[in-house]
Amino acid sequence: MNASLETPQVIILLGPPGAGKGTHAPKLSQHLQVPHISTGDLFRYHLKEKTTLGEIADKYIQKGELVPDDIVIDMVIDRLSESDCKNGCILDGFPRTTFQAVSLESKVTDKIIKAIYFKASDEILFERITGRLCCKECNAVYHKSFFPPKEQDICDKCQSTLFQRKDDTKEVLKKRLEVYHLQTDPLIHFYDKKNALTEINVENTNSLEDIFQDILFSLKETTLSPS
Ligand code: AP5
Repeated sequence: MNASLETPQVIILLGPPGAGKGTHAPKLSQHLQVPHISTGDLFRYHLKEKTTLGEIADKYIQKGELVPDDIVIDMVIDRLSESDCKNGCILDGFPRTTFQAVSLESKVTDKIIKAIYFKASDEILFERITGRLCCKECNAVYHKSFFPPKEQDICDKCQSTLFQRKDDTKEVLKKRLEVYHLQTDPLIHFYDKKNALTEINVENTNSLEDIFQDILFSLKETTLSPS
């Protein structure tokens, strides 16, 4: 059964690269009937379309660094002003710095902001990231060993070709994790202090459904009503 948000909410998926944010976000988006906004996907879309924003962002992404705050914030605030976000949205990969979090709070004053922290140790993330396959059209996510597509390198959902992200190498992931711990980890405390954080363990490799149920449970008390 799908659910709706009782009060408009911005639900932030917070967690290290490879934790499963992009895996669960589309299903959550469908379940709650609110859009899924992934800053990584937005940048990759701009890159595919060869926009100036895409070219600028790509320089940082390939090195495993964060795209400068002002660029990301403008892009997200623009997207949030679109009409499909009026009942809320799921933010995947934003905010990633305290400055981004403070900006979000100052711009979004008509919605509750809540963060779900996807907790996973660095060790398991290497295997997840280096085995990941992504769909270039619909952004669906697979894993060579854990969740392979039915047909090799073909998306089950839209039949497009799957690819490996250029930043999904061991070397770039090492940098991404370093940056994550330095710049994004502090947001756990930031949202916890505001009683706006729930934590879920996402290390279980066997069942995505169990993790999804944990996500729904973490939202249940304040957000869900049957529709
Ligand atoms: P982005 O695209 O957001 O990458 P990320 O945060 O590093 O997150 P990932 O997409 O790598 O991981 P995920 O948690 O979504 O994992 P997934 O579900 O795919 O950002 C890319 C870059 O853009 C950044 O490095 C930065 O440069 C820039 N950027 C983006 N946002 C920015 C911002 N706000 N500020 C500044 N710069 C920004 O899962 C990974 C793999 O594991 C998949 O293969 C999946 O099948 C598998 N998997 C998932 N769950 C499980 C499980 N339970 N068991 C086994 N396998 C699993």
